Amino acid sequence: MADALENLSTEVRRFAPDPEFAAQANARPEGYAWAKADPQGFWAEQARELLTWSTPFEEVLDWSGAPVARWFADGTINAAYNAVDRHVEAGHGDRVAIYFEGEPGDTRTLTYADLQREVSKAANALVALGVGTGDRVAVYMPLIPEAVIAMLACARIGAPHSVVFGGFSAEALHSRILDAEAKLVITSDGGYRRGSASALKPAVDEALAKGAPTVDHVLVVRRTGQDVEWTEGRDVWWHDALEAASDQHEPVALEAEHPLFILYTSGTTGKPKGILHTTGGYLTQAAYTHLNVFDLKPETDVYWCTADIGWITGHTYVVYAPLINGATQVIYEGTPDTPHRGRWWEIVAKYKVSILYTAPTAIRTCMKWGDDIPGAHDLSSLRVLGSVGEPINPEAWVWYRHVIGGDRTPVVDTWWQTETGAIMISPLPGVTTAKPGSAQVPLPGIAADVVDDDAKPVPNGGGGYLVLTEPWPSMLRGIWGDMERYQDTYWSRFKGLYFAGDGAKKDDDGDIWLLGRVDDVMNVSGHRLSTTEIESALVSHPSVAEAAVVGANDETTGQAVVAFVILRQDAVSDRPAEEIATELRNHVAKEIGPIAKPRTILVVAELPKTRSGKIMRRLLRDIAEHRTVGDATTLADSSVMDLISAGLAAPATSKASPAEPTSATD
Ligand code: WTA
Repeated sequence: MADALENLSTEVRRFAPDPEFAAQANARPEGYAWAKADPQGFWAEQARELLTWSTPFEEVLDWSGAPVARWFADGTINAAYNAVDRHVEAGHGDRVAIYFEGEPGDTRTLTYADLQREVSKAANALVALGVGTGDRVAVYMPLIPEAVIAMLACARIGAPHSVVFGGFSAEALHSRILDAEAKLVITSDGGYRRGSASALKPAVDEALAKGAPTVDHVLVVRRTGQDVEWTEGRDVWWHDALEAASDQHEPVALEAEHPLFILYTSGTTGKPKGILHTTGGYLTQAAYTHLNVFDLKPETDVYWCTADIGWITGHTYVVYAPLINGATQVIYEGTPDTPHRGRWWEIVAKYKVSILYTAPTAIRTCMKWGDDIPGAHDLSSLRVLGSVGEPINPEAWVWYRHVIGGDRTPVVDTWWQTETGAIMISPLPGVTTAKPGSAQVPLPGIAADVVDDDAKPVPNGGGGYLVLTEPWPSMLRGIWGDMERYQDTYWSRFKGLYFAGDGAKKDDDGDIWLLGRVDDVMNVSGHRLSTTEIESALVSHPSVAEAAVVGANDETTGQAVVAFVILRQDAVSDRPAEEIATELRNHVAKEIGPIAKPRTILVVAELPKTRSGKIMRRLLRDIAEHRTVGDATTLADSSVMDLISAGLAAPATSKASPAEPTSATD
């Protein structure tokens, strides 16, 4: 895939908008010129048009405290009111907000009026449990309606939520609870995963047993009915709390810059960063992008984004944007292959999904499973397809459009990050002539560029680093509790420019092609993982002396985690390498979560280091990708690579079977 990426911009296929689609499209070509001439006016108009403000704003952007932006700062607003109540007030209470499809096949339908009642009850329940405006709430849940309700209940009272992906371990949950000083944890007994009930509550118990002085209560949704340990006085059943609560609740008018949520993401050091998002600007860009990039028609479309709420895509494009826009959406709890590999397509046909948003890893997995699987289902309702999370290779893009989209649908490859909050670079359906594999152009009101090491924009045809050159409404407002790290990570590489951490190229038309991360962040199945974080997990195992982790190209998952470990003398003994590798993989799963498990663990005697002691990951990547090892002249000891290569041919090597490809919902 490295070669595929290198050759990306020689891709010559073009897909011009269908005139019929263009005629009805929400997006208009004039948007670009308007926004360019007056970006602040453009965003102010979107904010007024798409949201209902409790107090209208006068100020648009205050960038005097750069790099911390303030958007619409003198306005007040409530996210949950915008997502729910105002649709009911406008007479759309009967419109379906959520079609829930559980993995075992159970279903629920929630209208906007249902959501209003449930969110109001949940908000009252949170208040009754002592949660106030500004208090943080950790959410550790499967993808069930209560997860959405919980997030909106937090937003309704102005308690920032910190959603922790349900696949993360107790250890990972613990560190996130501590960092955000959460007052409450909302969880469930468990959820359904690959055909069986898997428990969640024990991980919360384990996390809290490690010490979490700020947590007063745990609110527990009953999903699977499995037995749970109960801590009297601390644990409260969701259904009891909601039953006792009134379904009337006045949403709190909050300042536009009030924190809406914290979401932890991997960075280049071991410690995850709590990315902070606020309310008014975030909601504006979420709503605008969702309407225009997906061409949403709330009255007629059925929208489905397959992401889990544990990731930013789930925050913006499952919870906030679709509900703010009054859409009808599907949420599905399980994996694409449970109980069979046609499950997704069955869901599309059943609900007549018209807009589908998923990740390249899922598309490639379905491609591998064969065309006849989607071919057996009626996918004719689909009219827009989206991709997010990692670069999509042109073959997968073309397959997606042809096999899933029946050669009719526009495909939008959307580039953005946890930090950007919403889509930044993407074609607009009905406007842009699409190029498979390219995210192409910054959206109206967004300014991006590709620069060289000296921060100079590269000419068309050149490659370098992706930067954002102007503040945007849904930008992060910092890293929770560590503003210095915010400055260092994003704003110190190039003065005055936001450094995204992605490599990119401009083609001859100036369109942008993303090339993957340029830092120590890996992208496995569209999930961000930090090499350092996995290395720390490995060395925390008593048998490991040293570890180096690289992301190796992988046909299905984009990248795969490959770990090189040096074992402690006393651990080497005569245990088979295979056994040690399995133990280490499980250890990583315990420390971080199963998604971080190395695909391959190679036991080596030495690691390649520069004279200053820095591990040369580039050389390890060569090995992991089975290439001839590159220039090793800066190594302190040039024989190390020979030693590693020789060692790899010997039985000390252990290759675990590749992890089962996961989907964007994993
Ligand atoms: C990568 C996910 C190429 C990129 C929304 C970015 C992409 C990281 C694309 C953010 C895309 C996301 N093309 N690369 N369309 N979308 N990425 O924070 O490396 O989980 O920096 O946000 O994913 O991952 P995150």
